[in-house]
Amino acid sequence: MSRNKKLKKARRSSINDPLLLTPGPLTTSATVKEAMLHDYGSRDDYFIELNRRVCQELLTLCDAQQTHLCIPLQGSGSFAVEAMIANQLPREGKLLNLVNGAYGHRITEICQYIDRKVSVIETAEDQPVDVARLNQTLTDDATITHVAVVYCETTSGILNPVEEVAEIVARHNRRLLIDAMSAFGALPLSVGNIPFDAIAASANKCLQSVPGLGFVIAKKDTFPRTRGNAHSLSLDLHAQWQYMNDTGQWRFTPPTHCLLALDQALRELEKEGGVSGRYKRYEENCRTLVTGMRDLGFQTLLPDELQAPIIVTFLMPGEESFNFQEFYDRLNALGYVIYPGKLTNIDSFRVGCIGHFGPDKMQAAVSAIKTVITGSGL
Ligand SMILES: Cc1ncc(COP(=O)(O)O)c(C=O)c1O
Repeated sequence: MSRNKKLKKARRSSINDPLLLTPGPLTTSATVKEAMLHDYGSRDDYFIELNRRVCQELLTLCDAQQTHLCIPLQGSGSFAVEAMIANQLPREGKLLNLVNGAYGHRITEICQYIDRKVSVIETAEDQPVDVARLNQTLTDDATITHVAVVYCETTSGILNPVEEVAEIVARHNRRLLIDAMSAFGALPLSVGNIPFDAIAASANKCLQSVPGLGFVIAKKDTFPRTRGNAHSLSLDLHAQWQYMNDTGQWRFTPPTHCLLALDQALRELEKEGGVSGRYKRYEENCRTLVTGMRDLGFQTLLPDELQAPIIVTFLMPGEESFNFQEFYDRLNALGYVIYPGKLTNIDSFRVGCIGHFGPDKMQAAVSAIKTVITGSGL
Protein backbone atom coordinates (compact mmCIF):
# COMPACT_ATOMS: atom_id res chain seq x y z
CA MET A 1 0.00 0.00 0.00
CA SER A 2 1.35 3.48 -0.85
CA ARG A 3 2.12 5.90 1.98
CA ASN A 4 -0.77 8.16 0.89
CA LYS A 5 -3.26 5.33 0.92
CA LYS A 6 -1.98 4.22 4.31
CA LEU A 7 -2.36 7.75 5.70
CA LYS A 8 -5.89 8.04 4.32
CA LYS A 9 -6.77 4.82 6.11
CA ALA A 10 -5.07 5.87 9.31
CA ARG A 11 -6.92 9.02 10.31
CA ARG A 12 -6.85 9.60 14.02
CA SER A 13 -5.69 13.12 14.94
CA SER A 14 -7.60 16.41 14.58
CA ILE A 15 -6.34 16.84 11.03
CA ASN A 16 -6.50 13.15 10.20
CA ASP A 17 -2.86 12.24 10.67
CA PRO A 18 -2.04 9.07 12.62
CA LEU A 19 -1.98 9.63 16.37
CA LEU A 20 1.58 9.83 17.72
CA LEU A 21 1.80 7.82 20.94
CA THR A 22 5.45 8.77 21.20
CA PRO A 23 7.68 10.88 23.47
CA GLY A 24 7.82 13.77 20.96
CA PRO A 25 7.46 15.02 18.36
CA LEU A 26 3.86 14.40 19.32
CA THR A 27 0.35 15.09 18.09
CA THR A 28 -0.34 18.81 18.28
CA SER A 29 -3.70 20.60 18.01
CA ALA A 30 -4.90 21.98 14.68
CA THR A 31 -4.73 25.48 16.21
CA VAL A 32 -1.05 25.06 17.14
CA LYS A 33 -0.31 24.05 13.55
CA GLU A 34 -2.42 26.92 12.19
CA ALA A 35 -0.49 29.43 14.31
CA MET A 36 2.50 28.77 12.05
CA LEU A 37 0.76 30.08 8.93
CA HIS A 38 2.51 33.44 9.22
CA ASP A 39 5.93 34.66 8.25
CA TYR A 40 7.51 37.14 10.63
CA GLY A 41 10.89 38.73 10.26
CA SER A 42 13.24 38.42 13.21
CA ARG A 43 13.17 42.22 13.78
CA ASP A 44 9.38 42.48 13.59
CA ASP A 45 7.91 44.23 16.66
CA TYR A 46 5.12 41.66 16.95
CA PHE A 47 7.64 38.83 16.95
CA ILE A 48 9.88 40.54 19.51
CA GLU A 49 6.90 41.03 21.84
CA LEU A 50 5.77 37.44 21.29
CA ASN A 51 9.24 36.19 22.16
CA ARG A 52 9.21 38.20 25.39
CA ARG A 53 5.74 36.92 26.27
CA VAL A 54 6.67 33.27 25.65
CA CYS A 55 9.75 33.56 27.90
CA GLN A 56 7.71 35.20 30.68
CA GLU A 57 5.08 32.48 30.43
CA LEU A 58 7.70 29.72 30.64
CA LEU A 59 9.08 31.33 33.81
CA THR A 60 5.57 31.62 35.25
CA LEU A 61 4.99 27.89 34.74
CA CYS A 62 7.69 27.16 37.32
CA ASP A 63 7.03 30.20 39.55
CA ALA A 64 10.42 31.63 38.65
CA GLN A 65 9.57 35.10 37.26
CA GLN A 66 11.41 36.88 40.07
CA THR A 67 14.36 34.56 40.50
CA HIS A 68 15.30 33.12 37.09
CA LEU A 69 15.89 34.01 33.44
CA CYS A 70 14.51 32.15 30.45
CA ILE A 71 16.92 31.67 27.55
CA PRO A 72 15.37 30.11 24.43
CA LEU A 73 17.62 28.23 22.04
CA GLN A 74 17.31 26.88 18.50
CA GLY A 75 17.45 23.10 18.12
CA SER A 76 16.21 19.93 19.76
CA GLY A 77 16.16 19.24 23.49
CA SER A 78 19.72 17.89 23.59
CA PHE A 79 21.00 21.27 22.38
CA ALA A 80 19.36 22.89 25.41
CA VAL A 81 20.75 20.24 27.81
CA GLU A 82 24.26 20.63 26.40
CA ALA A 83 24.00 24.42 26.53
CA MET A 84 22.80 24.24 30.16
CA ILE A 85 25.67 22.00 31.26
CA ALA A 86 28.28 24.05 29.40
CA ASN A 87 26.92 27.35 30.66
CA GLN A 88 26.36 26.40 34.29
CA LEU A 89 29.37 24.19 34.95
CA PRO A 90 32.60 26.20 35.05
CA ARG A 91 35.60 24.61 33.37
CA GLU A 92 37.13 23.88 36.80
CA GLY A 93 33.80 22.57 38.17
CA LYS A 94 32.75 18.96 38.72
CA LEU A 95 29.35 17.45 38.04
CA LEU A 96 27.80 14.60 40.01
CA ASN A 97 25.41 12.95 37.57
CA LEU A 98 22.52 10.77 38.81
CA VAL A 99 21.84 8.26 36.07
CA ASN A 100 19.08 5.70 35.52
CA GLY A 101 18.65 5.76 31.76
CA ALA A 102 19.84 6.96 28.36
CA TYR A 103 19.24 10.67 28.96
CA GLY A 104 21.29 10.57 32.15
CA HIS A 105 24.06 8.84 30.19
CA ARG A 106 23.78 11.58 27.57
CA ILE A 107 24.66 14.17 30.22
CA THR A 108 27.82 12.20 31.06
CA GLU A 109 28.65 12.08 27.35
CA ILE A 110 28.15 15.84 27.06
CA CYS A 111 30.62 16.37 29.93
CA GLN A 112 33.14 14.12 28.18
CA TYR A 113 32.72 15.98 24.87
CA ILE A 114 33.15 19.40 26.44
CA ASP A 115 35.88 18.30 28.83
CA ARG A 116 34.18 18.79 32.20
CA LYS A 117 34.84 16.57 35.21
CA VAL A 118 31.95 14.22 35.90
CA SER A 119 31.28 11.56 38.47
CA VAL A 120 28.32 9.20 38.13
CA ILE A 121 25.94 7.45 40.51
CA GLU A 122 24.11 4.90 38.40
CA THR A 123 21.06 2.89 39.37
CA ALA A 124 19.13 0.31 37.36
CA GLU A 125 16.76 1.59 34.67
CA ASP A 126 13.72 0.48 36.68
CA GLN A 127 14.90 2.10 39.92
CA PRO A 128 14.73 5.78 40.91
CA VAL A 129 18.02 7.64 41.36
CA ASP A 130 19.71 6.86 44.67
CA VAL A 131 19.25 9.75 47.12
CA ALA A 132 21.12 8.05 49.98
CA ARG A 133 24.23 7.68 47.81
CA LEU A 134 23.80 11.26 46.63
CA ASN A 135 23.84 12.47 50.22
CA GLN A 136 26.90 10.37 51.09
CA THR A 137 28.84 11.38 47.96
CA LEU A 138 28.23 15.07 48.56
CA THR A 139 29.46 14.58 52.15
CA ASP A 140 32.60 12.77 50.95
CA ASP A 141 33.60 14.77 47.89
CA ALA A 142 34.02 18.49 48.40
CA THR A 143 35.17 19.00 44.79
CA ILE A 144 31.64 18.39 43.44
CA THR A 145 30.13 21.75 42.50
CA HIS A 146 26.96 20.70 40.62
CA VAL A 147 24.47 17.82 40.57
CA ALA A 148 22.44 16.77 37.51
CA VAL A 149 19.25 14.71 37.43
CA VAL A 150 16.62 13.81 34.82
CA TYR A 151 13.11 14.51 36.18
CA CYS A 152 11.23 11.89 34.15
CA GLU A 153 13.72 9.46 32.57
CA THR A 154 11.97 8.91 29.25
CA THR A 155 14.03 5.77 28.62
CA SER A 156 11.71 3.87 30.96
CA GLY A 157 9.12 6.51 31.93
CA ILE A 158 10.28 6.49 35.57
CA LEU A 159 9.63 9.42 37.85
CA ASN A 160 12.75 10.49 39.74
CA PRO A 161 12.46 11.98 43.27
CA VAL A 162 13.57 15.48 42.24
CA GLU A 163 12.15 17.17 45.30
CA GLU A 164 14.28 15.00 47.59
CA VAL A 165 17.30 15.45 45.31
CA ALA A 166 16.83 19.24 45.44
CA GLU A 167 16.56 19.23 49.23
CA ILE A 168 19.81 17.25 49.62
CA VAL A 169 21.70 19.36 47.05
CA ALA A 170 20.56 22.58 48.76
CA ARG A 171 21.54 21.24 52.19
CA HIS A 172 25.04 20.59 50.85
CA ASN A 173 25.10 24.00 49.20
CA ARG A 174 25.75 22.70 45.68
CA ARG A 175 24.06 23.72 42.42
CA LEU A 176 21.25 21.66 40.86
CA LEU A 177 20.72 21.16 37.11
CA ILE A 178 17.58 19.33 35.94
CA ASP A 179 16.81 17.79 32.57
CA ALA A 180 13.07 18.48 32.66
CA MET A 181 12.53 17.64 28.99
CA SER A 182 9.63 15.23 29.38
CA ALA A 183 8.29 16.84 32.57
CA PHE A 184 8.01 20.57 31.96
CA GLY A 185 4.40 21.66 31.53
CA ALA A 186 2.83 18.53 33.03
CA LEU A 187 4.72 17.40 36.14
CA PRO A 188 4.84 19.78 39.13
CA LEU A 189 7.98 21.91 38.96
CA SER A 190 7.92 25.02 41.10
CA VAL A 191 11.15 26.66 42.15
CA GLY A 192 9.53 27.00 45.61
CA ASN A 193 9.44 23.20 46.09
CA ILE A 194 12.34 22.24 43.87
CA PRO A 195 14.97 24.95 44.19
CA PHE A 196 16.99 24.52 40.98
CA ASP A 197 19.84 26.52 39.49
CA ALA A 198 18.88 25.59 35.96
CA ILE A 199 16.51 23.38 34.02
CA ALA A 200 16.45 22.48 30.34
CA ALA A 201 13.33 21.56 28.37
CA SER A 202 11.85 21.77 24.90
CA ALA A 203 8.66 22.89 23.18
CA ASN A 204 7.65 19.58 21.68
CA LYS A 205 6.86 17.45 24.71
CA CYS A 206 4.37 18.27 27.47
CA LEU A 207 3.97 21.84 26.17
CA GLN A 208 2.47 20.22 23.05
CA SER A 209 4.15 22.43 20.50
CA VAL A 210 6.29 21.61 17.48
CA PRO A 211 9.98 20.60 17.52
CA GLY A 212 12.81 23.02 16.81
CA LEU A 213 13.08 25.00 20.01
CA GLY A 214 14.45 24.36 23.49
CA PHE A 215 15.00 26.61 26.47
CA VAL A 216 16.96 26.87 29.69
CA ILE A 217 15.63 28.52 32.82
CA ALA A 218 18.58 29.65 34.93
CA LYS A 219 18.99 31.43 38.24
CA LYS A 220 19.32 35.20 37.81
CA ASP A 221 21.78 36.04 40.56
CA THR A 222 24.46 33.55 39.53
CA PHE A 223 23.94 33.96 35.77
CA PRO A 224 26.48 36.79 35.25
CA ARG A 225 29.19 34.44 36.59
CA THR A 226 28.48 31.94 33.81
CA ARG A 227 29.92 34.29 31.19
CA GLY A 228 32.81 32.63 29.36
CA ASN A 229 31.96 29.10 30.55
CA ALA A 230 30.54 27.91 27.20
CA HIS A 231 32.70 25.79 24.93
CA SER A 232 30.72 26.57 21.79
CA LEU A 233 29.69 29.76 20.03
CA SER A 234 26.18 28.70 19.05
CA LEU A 235 25.44 27.04 22.41
CA ASP A 236 26.70 29.98 24.46
CA LEU A 237 23.67 30.70 26.62
CA HIS A 238 25.19 33.75 28.21
CA ALA A 239 25.82 35.33 24.80
CA GLN A 240 22.33 34.30 23.67
CA TRP A 241 20.78 35.97 26.70
CA GLN A 242 22.99 39.07 26.50
CA TYR A 243 22.08 39.72 22.86
CA MET A 244 18.37 39.17 23.51
CA ASN A 245 18.46 41.35 26.57
CA ASP A 246 20.22 44.17 24.67
CA THR A 247 18.22 44.01 21.43
CA GLY A 248 15.06 41.99 22.08
CA GLN A 249 16.19 39.83 19.14
CA TRP A 250 17.72 36.40 18.76
CA ARG A 251 21.48 36.20 18.15
CA PHE A 252 21.13 33.96 15.10
CA THR A 253 18.11 33.14 12.85
CA PRO A 254 15.17 32.57 15.21
CA PRO A 255 12.77 29.64 14.69
CA THR A 256 9.91 32.13 14.16
CA HIS A 257 7.27 29.55 13.26
CA CYS A 258 8.16 27.41 16.29
CA LEU A 259 7.69 30.45 18.53
CA LEU A 260 4.30 31.22 17.00
CA ALA A 261 3.29 27.62 17.65
CA LEU A 262 4.63 27.66 21.21
CA ASP A 263 2.79 30.89 22.00
CA GLN A 264 -0.47 29.23 20.91
CA ALA A 265 0.41 25.99 22.75
CA LEU A 266 0.97 27.97 25.96
CA ARG A 267 -2.48 29.53 25.63
CA GLU A 268 -3.94 26.06 25.24
CA LEU A 269 -2.06 24.89 28.31
CA GLU A 270 -3.52 27.76 30.32
CA LYS A 271 -7.02 26.96 29.03
CA GLU A 272 -6.58 23.37 30.15
CA GLY A 273 -5.95 24.53 33.71
CA GLY A 274 -2.17 24.92 33.54
CA VAL A 275 0.28 22.26 34.69
CA SER A 276 -2.20 20.57 37.05
CA GLY A 277 -4.90 20.40 34.35
CA ARG A 278 -2.52 18.85 31.88
CA TYR A 279 -1.19 16.41 34.50
CA LYS A 280 -4.75 15.27 35.16
CA ARG A 281 -5.41 14.46 31.48
CA TYR A 282 -2.08 12.68 31.06
CA GLU A 283 -2.79 10.68 34.21
CA GLU A 284 -6.15 9.61 32.75
CA ASN A 285 -4.47 8.72 29.45
CA CYS A 286 -1.89 6.68 31.35
CA ARG A 287 -4.47 4.90 33.50
CA THR A 288 -6.58 4.03 30.44
CA LEU A 289 -3.52 2.68 28.66
CA VAL A 290 -2.10 0.65 31.54
CA THR A 291 -5.47 -0.84 32.54
CA GLY A 292 -6.31 -1.74 28.95
CA MET A 293 -2.92 -3.23 28.19
CA ARG A 294 -2.86 -5.29 31.41
CA ASP A 295 -6.30 -6.63 30.45
CA LEU A 296 -4.75 -7.73 27.16
CA GLY A 297 -1.98 -9.53 29.06
CA PHE A 298 0.84 -7.00 28.64
CA GLN A 299 3.13 -6.24 31.59
CA THR A 300 4.51 -2.82 32.49
CA LEU A 301 8.18 -2.48 33.39
CA LEU A 302 7.43 -0.20 36.32
CA PRO A 303 5.10 -0.54 39.30
CA ASP A 304 2.41 2.17 39.29
CA GLU A 305 4.06 4.19 42.07
CA LEU A 306 7.22 4.78 39.97
CA GLN A 307 5.40 5.44 36.70
CA ALA A 308 5.21 9.04 35.45
CA PRO A 309 2.11 9.65 33.30
CA ILE A 310 4.29 10.51 30.31
CA ILE A 311 5.38 7.31 28.59
CA VAL A 312 4.90 3.67 29.58
CA THR A 313 7.36 0.84 28.92
CA PHE A 314 5.80 -2.56 28.24
CA LEU A 315 7.76 -5.79 28.32
CA MET A 316 7.91 -7.51 24.94
CA PRO A 317 5.66 -10.62 25.12
CA GLY A 318 7.71 -13.80 25.43
CA GLU A 319 5.86 -15.74 22.71
CA GLU A 320 7.98 -16.51 19.69
CA SER A 321 5.10 -15.54 17.42
CA PHE A 322 5.23 -11.92 18.64
CA ASN A 323 7.09 -9.84 16.09
CA PHE A 324 7.45 -6.20 17.15
CA GLN A 325 7.99 -4.82 13.64
CA GLU A 326 4.80 -6.51 12.46
CA PHE A 327 2.90 -5.28 15.53
CA TYR A 328 4.21 -1.75 14.94
CA ASP A 329 3.36 -1.77 11.21
CA ARG A 330 -0.16 -3.10 11.69
CA LEU A 331 -0.88 -0.60 14.42
CA ASN A 332 0.53 2.14 12.24
CA ALA A 333 -1.82 1.12 9.44
CA LEU A 334 -4.72 1.54 11.89
CA GLY A 335 -3.52 5.06 12.69
CA TYR A 336 -1.46 4.68 15.88
CA VAL A 337 2.28 5.21 16.09
CA ILE A 338 4.05 3.67 19.09
CA TYR A 339 7.76 3.66 19.96
CA PRO A 340 10.45 1.01 20.29
CA GLY A 341 11.96 0.36 23.73
CA LYS A 342 15.18 2.02 24.85
CA LEU A 343 16.21 -0.19 27.77
CA THR A 344 19.68 -1.73 27.73
CA ASN A 345 18.91 -5.24 28.94
CA ILE A 346 15.21 -5.89 28.51
CA ASP A 347 13.25 -6.25 25.28
CA SER A 348 10.44 -3.72 25.43
CA PHE A 349 8.33 -1.15 23.62
CA ARG A 350 6.89 2.18 24.71
CA VAL A 351 3.58 3.98 24.38
CA GLY A 352 3.37 7.71 25.07
CA CYS A 353 0.54 9.36 27.01
CA ILE A 354 1.39 12.93 25.98
CA GLY A 355 0.04 15.04 23.15
CA HIS A 356 -3.23 16.57 22.03
CA PHE A 357 -5.60 13.71 22.83
CA GLY A 358 -7.58 12.38 25.76
CA PRO A 359 -8.56 9.02 27.29
CA ASP A 360 -11.18 8.37 24.57
CA LYS A 361 -8.46 8.25 21.91
CA MET A 362 -6.24 6.21 24.22
CA GLN A 363 -9.07 3.74 24.66
CA ALA A 364 -9.39 3.56 20.86
CA ALA A 365 -5.65 2.90 20.64
CA VAL A 366 -5.96 0.03 23.13
CA SER A 367 -8.84 -1.40 21.04
CA ALA A 368 -6.64 -1.15 17.93
CA ILE A 369 -3.89 -3.03 19.80
CA LYS A 370 -6.45 -5.70 20.69
CA THR A 371 -7.51 -5.96 17.04
CA VAL A 372 -3.88 -6.31 15.96
CA ILE A 373 -2.95 -9.00 18.45
CA THR A 374 -6.15 -11.03 18.22
CA GLY A 375 -6.62 -10.67 14.48
CA SER A 376 -3.12 -11.54 13.38
CA GLY A 377 -1.96 -14.27 15.69
CA LEU A 378 0.89 -12.04 16.87
C1 LIG B 1 14.54 13.41 29.37
C2 LIG B 1 15.03 13.76 28.00
N1 LIG B 1 16.17 14.46 27.87
C3 LIG B 1 16.66 14.79 26.67
C4 LIG B 1 16.02 14.44 25.52
C5 LIG B 1 16.62 14.79 24.20
O1 LIG B 1 15.78 15.60 23.45
P1 LIG B 1 15.93 15.64 21.86
O2 LIG B 1 15.69 14.26 21.36
O3 LIG B 1 14.84 16.60 21.49
O4 LIG B 1 17.28 16.14 21.55
C6 LIG B 1 14.84 13.69 25.58
C7 LIG B 1 14.12 13.26 24.37
O5 LIG B 1 13.21 12.46 24.39
C8 LIG B 1 14.33 13.36 26.86
O6 LIG B 1 13.20 12.65 26.98
